[in-house]
Amino acid sequence: MTKEKKFKLAVLVSGRGSNLQSIIDSIERKDLAAEITIVLSNKSSAPALDRCRKHGIESVFLDPKLYSDKLHYDRAMIQLLQKKSADLICLAGFMRILGKEFIQAFRNRIINIHPSLLPAFPGLHPQRQALDSGAKVSGCTVHFVNEEVDAGPVILQTTVPVHDTDTVETLSQRILEQEHIIYPKAIQLCIQNQSSGRRT
Ligand code: GRF
Repeated sequence: MTKEKKFKLAVLVSGRGSNLQSIIDSIERKDLAAEITIVLSNKSSAPALDRCRKHGIESVFLDPKLYSDKLHYDRAMIQLLQKKSADLICLAGFMRILGKEFIQAFRNRIINIHPSLLPAFPGLHPQRQALDSGAKVSGCTVHFVNEEVDAGPVILQTTVPVHDTDTVETLSQRILEQEHIIYPKAIQLCIQNQSSGRRT
């Protein structure tokens, strides 16, 4: 019997890793036809790394202090992700901006999740930006990553209401619940898309 080649995901994290967990859970439930080939963190203390240990997933802490500059750090990431034959790179709370060389190395194969309805509220503190703007609706977006921050083509979005009584915490929580639903779905769409050869 021939072993079916699994679609390989690399997940880049810096912190809590709840989106990573939603991807792990979807794979374990067999809702997502993929495997996580590597999780890469730029923070040694990221709780996301504990999730990897718990689920037997290979993870790496790549220490930015060991590299002379951003370019060399990006090159180390490229080398590692190529070695692990990643088909798709999923940014899940990865708090570094990727340079041109990295984007070019994996063109149309890097995706990100952002807690706003892009193009509204890109960058830092999008939930705070939504509250300050008086927006009545916000949400989350999964998008392809290009050279601009939080700006590539949208794959999936979901809306949530913004209530007058919301704080950053309550709005963030409402959005996060939707993030955990749409990120695995968006990954599944990318798998279907890459399998049919349209975006590679
Ligand atoms: C999420 O809100 C995600 O949209 C943003 O960073 C946060 C990461 O949370 N890019 P977690 O580490 O996945 O729990």
